[in-house]
Formats: sequence, structure tokens, C-alpha cells
Amino acid sequence: MTVLITGVAGFVGSALARRLLAAGESVVGVDSLTDYYDPGLKKENLATIPGEGFTFVGQDLNTADLDALLAGVQVVFHEAGQPGVRKSWGEDFATYVDANVLATQRLLEAARRAPDLRRLVYASSSSVYGNAQVYPTSEDDVPSPHSPYGVTKLAAEHLCTLYARNFDVPTVSLRYFTVYGPGQRPDMAFNRFIRAALAGRPIEVYGSGEQIRDFTFVDDVVTANLLAATNPVPPGAVFNVSGGTSISVNEVLDVLSGIAGRRLDVRRTEAVAGDVVRTGGSADRIRRQLGWEPTVDVESGLRAQWRSLGGDA
Ligand SMILES: NC(=O)c1ccc[n+]([C@@H]2O[C@H](COP(=O)([O-])OP(=O)(O)OC[C@H]3O[C@@H](n4cnc5c(N)ncnc54)[C@H](O)[C@@H]3O)[C@@H](O)[C@H]2O)c1
Repeated sequence: MTVLITGVAGFVGSALARRLLAAGESVVGVDSLTDYYDPGLKKENLATIPGEGFTFVGQDLNTADLDALLAGVQVVFHEAGQPGVRKSWGEDFATYVDANVLATQRLLEAARRAPDLRRLVYASSSSVYGNAQVYPTSEDDVPSPHSPYGVTKLAAEHLCTLYARNFDVPTVSLRYFTVYGPGQRPDMAFNRFIRAALAGRPIEVYGSGEQIRDFTFVDDVVTANLLAATNPVPPGAVFNVSGGTSISVNEVLDVLSGIAGRRLDVRRTEAVAGDVVRTGGSADRIRRQLGWEPTVDVESGLRAQWRSLGGDA
């Protein structure tokens, strides 16, 4: 099988590439190494991907020749995007529209013409739900984003579904709930917390720390992508990918303190506009239809991430 991974130099894209190559698949990866975070880290991610069977294309989805990129490709994993809630306000919103909406629409147009394409898996987000009415939130609950980032992720997800309905583009959208583990983006909470703890710096927590999150280990997210690529599901399907942890940020800090073997110096700063009070997804549909189960609990996952950043655990 030949696959195209967009955003291959990122956190999830690079983990997916390593798994696919280890399984003997051919991988074409595209990434424009945006400066949302240090492109040097993205180059380090690329360096972890074995060269055999892998072709890297350093281009932007908004300008690349997508027909050429999709030639001979059976499965697209569309991980490219501008992540992060905090920066999605103000002038930066245009970057979110470009990277998340326009790039996805361009990819979907090319997918309509791609003769060999069997599946396009889109990395959607729990941020489409906003402050949900019901927990655990199911895919049938009405999405209502609470940040401009969430608006762009939902817009792109709707594009995937309507290209499936109108043109039979075989899309599947996976709504990831906060992904963590080795390689996590440097702006994300666990990565920031662990680096601060290891350096003996104060840990900065946005808001009270009472916000509850459903965390999903990166290997489980990779598995969900593979299952979505290979199982027969109706085009336009949407699945939550939720690890099932219903844990507050303060409880995470307790777990980290246990791993560190000492009290951590925690400083609380202002809450972030666009941050929701709680996320929590029902994994019933993905369990039933794709046979997916989260396999890594938060303490084991945090230990793996702690070790990957140089700590003993
Ligand atoms: N990490 C999470 O917790 C999480 C949760 C929900 C959804 N998601 C979604 O999953 C996807 C991957 O997230 P991640 O954490 O790996 O992010 P990441 O920033 O590490 O990876 C995204 C990659 O896409 C690339 N990119 C952005 N715009 C591009 C463009 N126009 N052309 C080519 N490359 C482009 C970036 O350079 C980056 O390397 C994103 O779409 C994100 O919105 C992530």
C-alpha cells in the first residue's frame, strides 16, 4: 500500500509514518515545516523516520501539485494543520483558515480526481464540541466550537463529509481528544510540565487546573488511523478517538509529582480564552465499528513521555 501523510514532520504524522514503515508500507510525507513551533523540532521528528520506503516532500498543501502527490496513493492521512487554541484569535486566524480549511478543501478537490484513492482519514478534533452539553460526548451531539481553532477544524470536517456525500470521496474524520506521549508538541501541557519539572523550573498552569481532559496516548491515535484506513466504513463517517481518562490538570500534576518523586513547584496563570472546562468523548462508536480500544493509561503514558524527555521513570 502507498500512503500519503500530510503534516508528516509533526507529532502525530511522524508517529504514524514510523508505524506504517515498520509494517512495510510505502510512505510519501508532505510538510511545509511551519513556524507554529520550532521547525528544528520538526526536522528532528523527520530524522526519526526510517529512510527506506519513505519519500519526503517539503511543500505547502496550498501550493503543492497535489495531483502528482496523490498519484498511486491508496490512503491519505491528513494530519497537516495549524494546531492550538490559544493562538487562533486575532490576526492569526487567517493562518488557521489557510492551514486547516483551505488546504483541506484543496486536498479534497485533488482527492476527487485521484484514481487509486480508497480512504482519506482526516485529523479532526474534540475542539469541535466546545463546552459540550453531555459527557461523555458522542458523535451525534451537536458540535459547538468554543475557539476559532475549533471552528476551522469543524469547517474542514464538514468539508470532508460533504465531499463524501456529493462526490464519494472516501473520507473518515477522527476527532482526537488531547493527544500525548513521546514527541508531543512543545506548546502542549504535558510537554511543558515535564520539561519544566526536569529543568527544576516552576510549572505554569493556565487557569485553576480544575479543567478536565480526556487524554489519548499517541500510539492509540496511530492505531485508530490504521483501523480507519482499512475497515469498511461509510464515506463521511466521524469517530471520536478518546482515551477515556476523565482527569483534571491538577490530578495530572499529582501523577507527575509521583513520577518525579517530589513536590512540584506549580504557578497558576490566567485561563486561556477558548479553553473549554471539560472534554470527554464516548468511544462507543469507534469500539463497535472499528474495534478500537485505548491501551495506555495516563500514568504509563506520562512515564513514557517523561523518559522521552530525558527523565528516569
Ligand atoms: N495533538 C493533539 O492533541 C490534537 C488533538 C486534536 C486534533 N489534532 C489535529 O491533529 C493534527 C496533527 O496534530 P499535531 O499535534 O501532530 O500537530 P503538529 O503541529 O505537530 O503537526 C502538524 C504538521 O502540519 C504541518 N503543516 C501545517 N500546515 C501545512 C500546510 N499547509 N502544508 C503542509 N504542511 C503543513 C506543520 O508544519 C506540522 O509539522 C492537526 O491537524 C491537529 O489539528 C491534534
